[in-house]
This record gives sequence, C-alpha cells and structure tokens, in this order.
Amino acid sequence: MTSPLFRTKKVEQSIRDTEEPEHALKKSLSALDLTVFGVGVIIGTGIFVLTGTVAKDNAGPATALAFVVAGVVCALAALCYAEFASTVPVAGSAYTFSYASLGELPAWIIGWDLVLEFALGTAVVAVGWSGYIQSLMENAGWEMPAALGSREGSDVFGFDILAAVLVLVLTGILVLGMKLSARVTSVVVAIKVTVVLVVIIAGAFFITADNYDPFIPESQPVPAGESLDSPLIQLMFGWAPANFGVMGIFTAASVVFFAFIGFDIVATAAEETRNPQRDMPRGILGSLFICTVLYVLVSLVVTGMQHYSELSVDAPLADAFKATGHPWFAGFISFGAAVGLTTVCMILLLGQTRVFFAMSRDGLLPTFFSRVHPRFRTPHRPTILLGVVIAVLAGFTPLNELAALVNIGTLFAFVIVAISVIILRRTRPDLHRAFRTPWVPVLPIVSVGASLWLMLNLPAETWVRFGIWMAIGIVVYFLYSRTHSRMAREKDTSPAPPAS
Ligand code: ALA
Repeated sequence: MTSPLFRTKKVEQSIRDTEEPEHALKKSLSALDLTVFGVGVIIGTGIFVLTGTVAKDNAGPATALAFVVAGVVCALAALCYAEFASTVPVAGSAYTFSYASLGELPAWIIGWDLVLEFALGTAVVAVGWSGYIQSLMENAGWEMPAALGSREGSDVFGFDILAAVLVLVLTGILVLGMKLSARVTSVVVAIKVTVVLVVIIAGAFFITADNYDPFIPESQPVPAGESLDSPLIQLMFGWAPANFGVMGIFTAASVVFFAFIGFDIVATAAEETRNPQRDMPRGILGSLFICTVLYVLVSLVVTGMQHYSELSVDAPLADAFKATGHPWFAGFISFGAAVGLTTVCMILLLGQTRVFFAMSRDGLLPTFFSRVHPRFRTPHRPTILLGVVIAVLAGFTPLNELAALVNIGTLFAFVIVAISVIILRRTRPDLHRAFRTPWVPVLPIVSVGASLWLMLNLPAETWVRFGIWMAIGIVVYFLYSRTHSRMAREKDTSPAPPAS
C-alpha cells in the first residue's frame, strides 16, 4: 500500500527510537515483576464491584459462566498480544504493533482508542475504590456528604471527591518514577490476592445452596423505554430485549470483561522490561490464568452467600459478608479492596501515559509530551496533563456506562491486534518472534470473532458513544497528526532518491 495513510513504521525503527537518550525509558522489569504488575492491574473494580451489578441485572449465579466466557475471549487475544509484545518491545502496546503492521491511520485509530480505554478505565477504577472506602467509613460510623460521595441509591448529583483525589496522588507517584511504582505494586498485589483468597475460603462456609436455584435465572423482558440500554445484537436482530437467560450470560460477559483488562497493559511495559522476548509472554499469560481461576471462584462464592437480587452494587464482596452477619470480614475486605484498587488505578494511568508518550514520540500528538523528565526519566508531561483530566472525569463518572465504553474500546483493540498478527507474519516473516501465536491464522480469526461477539453484546448506546469518540479522532488525525507525523516529516526532508 503506497498511500501515506498506510505508511508503516519499521519495527527496527520503533526499537531504535526507544534508544534515543532523551526518549529512553529505564529497563528494569523482570518476568515476575510483569506477572505481579499484571495481577496488580487485572484484579480490580471488575471483580470487586461489577460482579454485584451483573449478577443482579444480567446473569444471577451464572455470572461465574460469564467470567469463563470473558476469560476465553481474553486468552485468545492474549495469545496474539504475546506474539506482538515479544516482537515489538516498545512502549505503546497495540498502538505500536499496528503502526508496524497496518499503517499510520489504523495505528492512530488504535492509539486514540487506547486513550479512551485507559483514561476512562482509570476513572472507573477510582470510582470503585471510592465505593469501598465509603463502605469502610460506614463501618466506622462515618458517612460522606451525598454531594461528595457516590453511594448506591443516592439521587443527589455529586462530585466524587475521593476518586478525584486518588487519581491526583497517583499521578504524583508516577511522575517520580517507575521503580517506586513497581515496588509499591508488589506489596499491594499481595494484599489484594490475600483478600480475594479470604473471600473465597471464608465465604465458602457461608454459602446457602438455595441461592443457586435457579443457576441461570429465566429470561425477563427489559422495561419499555430502556431499549437503547439493550445489547446491540438484540436490537439488530429485532429480538425482544431481555435480561437473564442464556443471552444474559453473554451480556454479563461483555460487562465483566472489564475485570480482565490489564493483561494488554502489561504489553505496554515491554520497553521497560529487561528481556521482553522471553518475559513478556510469560507475564501476560501467567497473570491472565491466575485471575480467571480466582474470578470464577469469587463469583460462585458471592452469589452463593447472598441471593443475586440482593447483592450490593457499590461494594458487593464486602456487603455479602455484612449480609451474612460478619462485619469484621467486611471491614477487612473493604480495606484490602481499597488498597488493591489503588494499584489498578495507577497502572491504568501508567498505560495511558505510555500510549500518549509513544504517539507523541511519533509526532502524531505534539512532541512536547515525549520529552522524559531529565532526572526521573518518566514522561512527566502527559502524566500530569492526563492525571488532571482523569481526576475530573472520575469525579463525575457514572461507573457502569463508562465501564461499557472502556470494554468496547478494548475489544476493538483486540480485533486490530489479532488482524495485525496475521498481517505481520506475511509482511515481516523474517522478524524474530520469541513467542509465536499457535495456529495462525485460525486462532487470530477466532479471536476476532469472539471479540466482535462480546462487542455486539454491549448496549446500543455504548456503540453510539464509541462512534462519536472515534469520529473525533479521525478529525484530529486529518487536521493535525497526518502532517506532523515524524514519518511524514522525515520523508519530506530526506534527500531525493538518485535518478535511475
Ligand atoms: N481489570 C481491571 C479492573 O477490574 C481494570 O479493575
């Protein structure tokens, strides 16, 4: 393809760029760091908060099956991500991968999409964190004024001050440096995994078998006037929009998919990994596997402890223990969840700034953002800018709707990555791949189909919002990025080819 819209950035060039001193990030992470990093970001608001919502609204006890479905979709995508991350070990994840394979416009689209995923994802997690902090405060008898909190049932329009403050504090930590963040992450991940294990083990003693009956609740029609909230697939085929039943499991899967977001972010740290070729696939697949097992167990336990229709929406894991008369456990879980969600929020924020950094280094966004801090060697400018924007967003965010928007963006990225694996195998068969996706092209094609299926199970209005965001991105590309792209400028200033 000769059009400038499809000019590709050579993989070797991407790697060389990362070695320029003023753009270089520190290489300090190992496979274990990456797995910890992965578990650190994967387990979060998805399991701690969304489990309650989807069990209540979409799937009942069959939420466990929804986690299996979402886990399978992610495993397929992870196999594609792992090949890319081990071949193109530079910051920017799917954005960089697609620049090397599909071309500049698709890369821009994916980068723009990832900005949405990570920025809103950070906001969603910050709001989830705030829910658990408020649950903890309630244990101690304190309550946030409604205008500054976001608890279930409050109809006051409020600014979630706790969520916003969290984002600002984490922004400060990230500006100070990656190593500090990784060290803090390991301790916090240990606390978070302990809490999840406590939920599983202690909760298993409080399960009432009756709560599993029926395991897949019967399909129920959606109240009139809420059809835009219904999955696109139901509207597309003119099915009567419904919750629960077998289709409810897929709707639930498209929401709890949020719980798996994060393994793709491990790929964004490729540039900061000591031996990305070997460690990246181990980190990605390892963390994904651990999380899937834990999620299935947690959702089985929680829906067994409390009838799905009574689960809380803000802090369902802790509140299930309150409901069975064990407030001490609830306090411990709220504390651990709050600590755990902190790292998720931080890593999403980190992923976000790294994508922004990579796009700016390529000239698609102003290059002002890609100068690393002379002392901390972190991309401090995008970190600060985005941190402030996200803090404001987190303050006003309705959690579920934004989680759906994050999911559609992420699934879209999965589709592009899977296609890129196939294309790069054809266009650059010579590249060294420390990890090769098995059964190419069948597995990537199945991955594309599976991701599209979950996308279609998201609400129609999520599609509309996503369409608007992407349309804005296309306009920005044609007004700014296309002409400012480093590739375009290098081409303009390179000497004319010798006459043949
Ligand atoms: N997977 C992460 C979470 O559930 C983003 O919070």
